[in-house]
Amino acid sequence: MNTNTVSQLLAKDQFGLEIEIKGWVRTFRANRFIALNDGSTINNIQCVVDFENTSEETLKRITTGAAVHIKGELVESQGKGQKVEIAVTSIDILGDSDPETYPIQPKKHSFEFLRENAHLRTRTNTFSAVMRLRSSLSFAIHKYFNENGFYYMHTPIITGSDAEGAGEMFRVTNLDAENPPLTKDGKVDFKEDFFGNETNLTVSGQLEAETYAMSLGKVYTFGPTFRAENSNTSRHLSEFWMIEPEVAFMDLAGNMDLAEDFMKSVLSYILENNREDLEFLEKRLLDEEKTKPQAERSEMSLIEKLKFVIDNNFKRVSYTEAIDILKNSKPNKKKKFNYIIKEWGADLQSEHERFLVEKHFKCPVILFDYPANIKAFYMRLNEDGKTVRAMDILFPGIGEMVGGSQREERLEVLKEKMAALDIPEEELWWYLDLRKYGTAVHSGFGLGFERLVMFATGMTNIRDVIPYPRTPQNAEF
Ligand code: 4AD
Ligand code: MG
Repeated sequence: MNTNTVSQLLAKDQFGLEIEIKGWVRTFRANRFIALNDGSTINNIQCVVDFENTSEETLKRITTGAAVHIKGELVESQGKGQKVEIAVTSIDILGDSDPETYPIQPKKHSFEFLRENAHLRTRTNTFSAVMRLRSSLSFAIHKYFNENGFYYMHTPIITGSDAEGAGEMFRVTNLDAENPPLTKDGKVDFKEDFFGNETNLTVSGQLEAETYAMSLGKVYTFGPTFRAENSNTSRHLSEFWMIEPEVAFMDLAGNMDLAEDFMKSVLSYILENNREDLEFLEKRLLDEEKTKPQAERSEMSLIEKLKFVIDNNFKRVSYTEAIDILKNSKPNKKKKFNYIIKEWGADLQSEHERFLVEKHFKCPVILFDYPANIKAFYMRLNEDGKTVRAMDILFPGIGEMVGGSQREERLEVLKEKMAALDIPEEELWWYLDLRKYGTAVHSGFGLGFERLVMFATGMTNIRDVIPYPRTPQNAEF
């Protein structure tokens, strides 16, 4: 492994040291100064070319985007803002770039343009910082669960069950689309399909995670999930990554404690370990905010927002309290909401969630005890017979970040609920078995990883925090 990275060289102060480095030219100024980056840090190292002893031919090939191998001496920098630079003794062009057609010019590009060039966008400061943070957050997530006694479980991607009962899944099949086998009554015969029944890409690993929680105790999944909902928003992807812990003998209050501690822990990790990237993104956001009217500007900088979340308790509010707040709110009374809240039982839209976190509480909010009929079948029914032990965690600027619940552990109650929703028992016989053999209180939640990355980086479009976004009408790359 080549351990000589720009990041390591920038931290050294052994002037006179002979070094080698490989990377990509960000800019080349005055036939003399290369700003070199290799992805190891947001910072470039300045490499000073001895142009008198370098051939005209080579100098011409040092262009933005070219890959180079540089040998030289680490010297004290004359320039501002950097401690060290490299006095180049030899430069080898590993891969030329074409300055006429290379899309990533040293200037500001729109995020739309960079999305079309997603294969090269991590050569920019913004996207390299975002993706380093994404990587770091993934690591922090595994670290948190590992240190807290959880087992990492791989739930299946191809599934025969529809965990959310939402019916918005991508079918997995190898039947001939033009000429599928048919049953007697003219329907597609899935018995002839690859798995002998209808299968889809998973929308959540929860139901399978529950089976492992009820034997291994504390487990989590962290994998891709798929939703075929046609929502073209800045917060929805058709393929996204979800973190789903599931814990035996834990109730809803424990679930809230876990979610809050977990999120604070992973955000603390990046504050400690990704400072330079965060500072860069904070500055980017401040510059962007300057172009907005005063009223729309954020009161806190990116790092302040992260610290605020870490240092303050999430506000825990029941659905019933939230409805009261919303009913009496200005935008509701003045009919500013698209969906006016009239009575208890209404499903909350993102405009309501955002009002609660951004205008009313001004901090992350855990909403709990939702009406049973707007939530999934597996959530535990409360004693009132009309609400379930559900929780959603709402974040400023993001809306829903987490959805979770205490699970219905009583066989009869669960069966009734499934019957009412026409969920066939045969399909979930294994899920019902958990309630037959050694059932117990258990809970878990799902955190949308890209929404967490959005919050952590201050990016406002979910397409900009995943390498290759999949959205309706788009699966390029
Ligand atoms: O609220 P959801 O649908 O919950 C579940 O799937 C549960 N089975 C989780 C569990 O209890 N184990 O999804 C969980 C989270 C949401 O809060 C949101 O952050 C994210 O997943 N999410 C999406 N992220 C990006 N694009 C989409 N289309 C998303 N749909 C949900
Ligand atoms: Mg949800």
